[in-house]
Amino acid sequence: MYPLTRLRRTRMHKWSRNVVKENVISSSDLILPIFIKEGINKKEEISSMPDVYKYSIDNLEKIVTQAIKNKIPAIALFPEIENDKKDEIGSEALNENNLVCQAVREIKKKFKNEVGIICDVALDPYTSHGHDGVIKNEVVDNDETVKILIEQSLIQANSGCDILAPSDMMDGRIGEIRKSLEKNNFPNTILLSYAAKFASNFYGPFRNAISTSTKLKTDKKNYQMDFHNSDESLKEVLLDISEGADMVMVKPGLAYLDIISKVKEKYNIPVIAYNVSGEYSMIKNAIKNKIMGDDAIYETMVSFKRAGASAIVTYFANEIVEKFIDI
Ligand code: PBG
Repeated sequence: MYPLTRLRRTRMHKWSRNVVKENVISSSDLILPIFIKEGINKKEEISSMPDVYKYSIDNLEKIVTQAIKNKIPAIALFPEIENDKKDEIGSEALNENNLVCQAVREIKKKFKNEVGIICDVALDPYTSHGHDGVIKNEVVDNDETVKILIEQSLIQANSGCDILAPSDMMDGRIGEIRKSLEKNNFPNTILLSYAAKFASNFYGPFRNAISTSTKLKTDKKNYQMDFHNSDESLKEVLLDISEGADMVMVKPGLAYLDIISKVKEKYNIPVIAYNVSGEYSMIKNAIKNKIMGDDAIYETMVSFKRAGASAIVTYFANEIVEKFIDI
């Protein structure tokens, strides 16, 4: 009790604060998402996400090298597919020479296992309606979609992708994908399930970046989780672990720290937080407009660690290492 106990004692100096520091961020906590587009020698700024670019495949070398130099362990690739390649069923997802597969092969050729490659498993970049699966009777049809996702997974694994990240929220897809990976001789492909993915307003800038926002006429609430719920996210995680997921994602991140913390506490598995595009743009714009210092980026990352995240997917990854971490 006071005055015997004074919690301010250890706060008095930087060195003493360092002694009692409970959580830190290091390079290995960060995963960098990278947007790719068709064409040659393209680097195009994304209007909804200041300082984030889309790169053509021949221009990826610099950003990937930067991530490796910054000791970032993995990158996540997101393709922007041209309109004339989109259709109702997302056929281009099953083209083994599509943009994302070509990018994976190029990066693997140049960088071998210096960096892990994560690919989304979902149809939204490829469908003319912007949904993550095929539509039947006005909703995304679960079982028909899963059949396609199995194929998409095999194609991406075959192109060299290290981590498949199903972000579609269909029921049962982790088990089906895992079985087919085992059967087709991909026993070591990691499955990072977007297990607790909420139907969120915070994906806006991302949808603008890969041009799905103008296509989407309805929301994704019949497959992504209802943000009023938390128990349900634990069920999602339990199912995905039992179906063979190696890690799970909670997405978005900032408004869902409670979910990260519960999942970590209950299941003790690697939980990855996705600091999504809307969170990025809010913070980035506040810093650019000088109404907030850039330490806010670091503070945000620490909050994910405090909640129990093993790693954070963030568009800030390179900036964090370069500004805040001694490598
Ligand atoms: C699509 C997907 C989305 C994001 C990653 N994969 C958007 C969506 O579900 O509509 C969002 C990422 C972000 O906002 O940064 N399967």
